[in-house]
Amino acid sequence: MPHESTKILLPEKEMPRQWYNIIPDLPRPLSPPVSPATGKAITPEELGAIFPMGLILQEVSQESYIDIPGEILDIYRLWRPSPLVRARRLEEAIGTPAKIYFKNESVSPAGSHKLNTAVAQAYYNKKEGITKLSTETGAGQWGSALSLACNYFGMKVHVYMVRVSYDQKPYRKLMMETWGGSVTPSPSPLTSVGREILAKDPDNLGNLGIAISEAVEEAATNKDTNYALGSVLNHVCMHQTVIGLETRKQLELVGDYPDVVIGCVGGGSNFSGMAFPFVRDKINGREVKILAVEPTACPTLTKGRFVYDYGDEAKMAPIVEMYTLGHTFMPPSIHAGGLRYHGMAPLLSLLYHENVIDAVAVGQTGCFEAAVLFARTEGIIPAPESSHAIRAAIDEAIKAKEEGKRKTIVFNLSGHGHFDMASYERYFSGQLDDYEYPAKLIEEALTDLPKVQL
Ligand SMILES: Cc1ncc(COP(=O)(O)O)c(C=O)c1O
Repeated sequence: MPHESTKILLPEKEMPRQWYNIIPDLPRPLSPPVSPATGKAITPEELGAIFPMGLILQEVSQESYIDIPGEILDIYRLWRPSPLVRARRLEEAIGTPAKIYFKNESVSPAGSHKLNTAVAQAYYNKKEGITKLSTETGAGQWGSALSLACNYFGMKVHVYMVRVSYDQKPYRKLMMETWGGSVTPSPSPLTSVGREILAKDPDNLGNLGIAISEAVEEAATNKDTNYALGSVLNHVCMHQTVIGLETRKQLELVGDYPDVVIGCVGGGSNFSGMAFPFVRDKINGREVKILAVEPTACPTLTKGRFVYDYGDEAKMAPIVEMYTLGHTFMPPSIHAGGLRYHGMAPLLSLLYHENVIDAVAVGQTGCFEAAVLFARTEGIIPAPESSHAIRAAIDEAIKAKEEGKRKTIVFNLSGHGHFDMASYERYFSGQLDDYEYPAKLIEEALTDLPKVQL
């Protein structure tokens, strides 16, 4: 009986052949990105200094579906379609009448969803003659994914890894090097941005905003080098929609449809990838709750402001309208490095602002508690980032139990935590605290917003 399945698998021939682009379905148009140099709407020529035209066109495309080139599909086939798993043991442990499903993106060779866009970005850059990419990485997942993707296309990659993660996760660095990437802790003496920060504070722990500035500087000052961003941008969120498109088909196979769709949010890409196909259904009248989960230590959606802000610390990346905690926001060194970004994808920000999606902030100890329960029931040790989605899924399942409702809950397991065991160790030894980012610091960080003249 298909209804009794635990792993719901799609055959390779059912893998999506197109990405879903949500732009034409938005409740209102996105505000245009702005150039940090001029304060005016950014031109394709300015973007062309660091991105290939193929991706710039995707960034602004009004087509609802965009064909995935064959070379990318060939690489996707190494791990896609990824399984959708019914978490029966987790349901039993909670004693909930709810059905919980998770999409297992941890099966990608790099360990997370990030490879879905890494392969696409390497492909479009290679096609336009670029031989090297520079990038940032927080948790190490994105740098790993881009190193593997560039390896497939015979390209070099230089990764600026946020200092705190670099120190916490030495094996992530080796993983990137195994696939041919080179890794530098950020802030670094290699860029003028890094040198300036280190002169003021030699022990600076770094953050994604600084690492992005360094990588953008390298791309902007070297002709053969482009910049690749692992989240936030429209085309990145679009590349991730293979997750939600597959999930919808897999649920159809067992005759189900979610009441709640859940994902964790850092810059917003894994959540967007899972959620956007369901957002489309919601915009077309279907009832479904779509929930983004963020840390209380970096509460971009739940405590930030919807304004134009810089994407990076040194004001080099495009200025976009988004939820933000201010580009100078310095998050504490929580154990979900990939969720420590001050901003949020403009697409997601707009959907939240228009009340199409919901958001919640959760503390890290509750997330690790959920992660351990998940590991002991479903077997997979989740990435600390993904544990935020697990926490929210468990909370929804407990609510369903209290209400006596047989809800269907679907969440995205964005990655595994095999390189995050030092964080688990700190949790087990009682060294992790919950941290609420103080409202006063957010107010301060929001005083230096850009002046936009549209
Ligand atoms: C496993 C995992 N999940 C989630 C994220 C958050 O990024 P995004 O919001 O772009 O999915 C990261 C970022 O590094 C990650 O490594």
